[in-house]
Amino acid sequence: MPPSKTFQIAVYPGDGIGPDVIDEAVRVLRAAEQLDGSFALKLETLPWGIRYWRENSRIVPDDFLEQLRGFDAILLGAVGWPAVLPDHVTLAPLVQIRQAFDQYACVRPSRLYPGVKSVLAGVQPGDVDLVVIRENSEGEYVDNGGRLRRGTPDEVAWQTAVHSRRGIERVLRYGFDLARRRRNRLTMITKSNAQRHAYGLWDEVLAELAPQFSDVESDRQHCDAALMNLVRCPREFDVIVASNLFGDLMTDLAGVVGGGLGLAPSANLNPEREFPSMFEPVHGSAPDIAGRGIANPIAAIRSAAMMLDHLGIDAASRRIETAVERTLAQGHQTPDLGGRLTTQEMATAMLANLERNSA
Ligand code: NAD
Ligand code: IPM
Ligand code: MN
Repeated sequence: MPPSKTFQIAVYPGDGIGPDVIDEAVRVLRAAEQLDGSFALKLETLPWGIRYWRENSRIVPDDFLEQLRGFDAILLGAVGWPAVLPDHVTLAPLVQIRQAFDQYACVRPSRLYPGVKSVLAGVQPGDVDLVVIRENSEGEYVDNGGRLRRGTPDEVAWQTAVHSRRGIERVLRYGFDLARRRRNRLTMITKSNAQRHAYGLWDEVLAELAPQFSDVESDRQHCDAALMNLVRCPREFDVIVASNLFGDLMTDLAGVVGGGLGLAPSANLNPEREFPSMFEPVHGSAPDIAGRGIANPIAAIRSAAMMLDHLGIDAASRRIETAVERTLAQGHQTPDLGGRLTTQEMATAMLANLERNSA
C-alpha cells in the first residue's frame, strides 16, 4: 500500500556538529518511514548558517520565514560559530523562527535512561523524569532595547522583557494539560521576589488558573532555589513551566542531570498548528568537538521522534524512543557518555534496535 500521508519537512542542519547529528537523525527518519509504511517524508535541506554567510554575507536569505512557512515542520541541528561571527548574528534567525511562528511552548524532556550515568552522585534511572515547558515567544527574549553614548564612559544599555497575560496563561495551560497526562505536578519558575512587575503577573495568573486544575498539585519556586533543588532532589519535579530565559537555564541543567546534552531533545511547538513547529536538540554547535565525528546524535534523533509525534505518527515516534532506550541500556556510548563510539556508530547501533523492534 502506498503511504497515506506525506509531510514536507524543512531540514536546517546549521553549524558545527549540527550537520553531523542531523545526518544521523535523517537516516533514522528514513528507516522509520520504510519500516512504518504509512507515511512519507519530503525533506528539503536548507544550506543556511556560517557557510551560507561566507558566500552571501547573511546567515539566512531575507525571505527565510516565507520559505519556511509552507512546511509541516522544521528539523534543526544547531546554530552558532562564535570564532567567526558574534552569536547574536548567527542565532537571531533561530529566535525569529520561534517568535514569528508563535512556537510558544518549548517542550524539553529530561529522563535518565538505564545504562546512563548522571553527573549527580547516587542518582539512578527513575530519579530524573521531568519535562520543562519553556515560554518561547516573549519574555526576556523580546528584541527590545537600545544603547546610548556608545563607546564612551557614559554608555548605557537597556533591554526590557515583555510578559503578556495571554502569553503566560497559554503556556501555563499547556503545562497543566501535560501534567494531567504525567504525574500531576507542576512547578512554575520565576523570580518574583526580585522582579515584582513581570513575575508578579506570572504569580497572579498561576493563582487564577490553579483552581481550574485542582487535580494537579502546583507550586512556584524562584529560579535560584529551583536550580538548587533540581540538583538536590530531581525526583520532585514532574512538569516545570518557566519564562523564556529561566527555561533556557533550567534545560541545560536538566539535560546534564538527565545524562548529558548529547541526549536532550526539544520541540518548539505552535500547538494551534497555524504555523510549522520546530524540532532541535537542546545543545548548540559544540565547537570544541565539531569536525571530529564524535558528537552524540541521540538528542537530534529524539528531536526527530518528537517531530513524528507532533505530526501524528506516534507509533513510529514511540518505536524510535524505545530503540534509543534499548541502545543506551546495552551500553552503547559516545565519548560524552564515557564511551568510544563515533556519531555514525551510535546511530547504527540505534538503527539495529529500531529494525529489530519493528520486525
Ligand atoms: P553547546 O551546547 O554547543 O556545548 C556545551 C558542551 O556540551 C560542550 O562541551 C559540547 O562539546 C557538549 N555537547 C553539546 N552537544 C553535544 C553532543 N551532541 N554530543 C557530545 N557533546 C555535546 O554550548 P556552547 O559551547 O555554549 O555553545 C556553542 C555555540 O552554540 C554557541 O555559538 C552558542 O551560542 C550556540 N548554541 C546554539 C544552540 C542552538 O542551536 N539551539 C543552543 C545552545 C548554544
Ligand atoms: C537554546 C539556545 C538558544 C536560546 C540560543 C542559541 C539563542 O541556548 O535553544 O537553548 O537561548 O534559546
Ligand atoms: Mn540554551
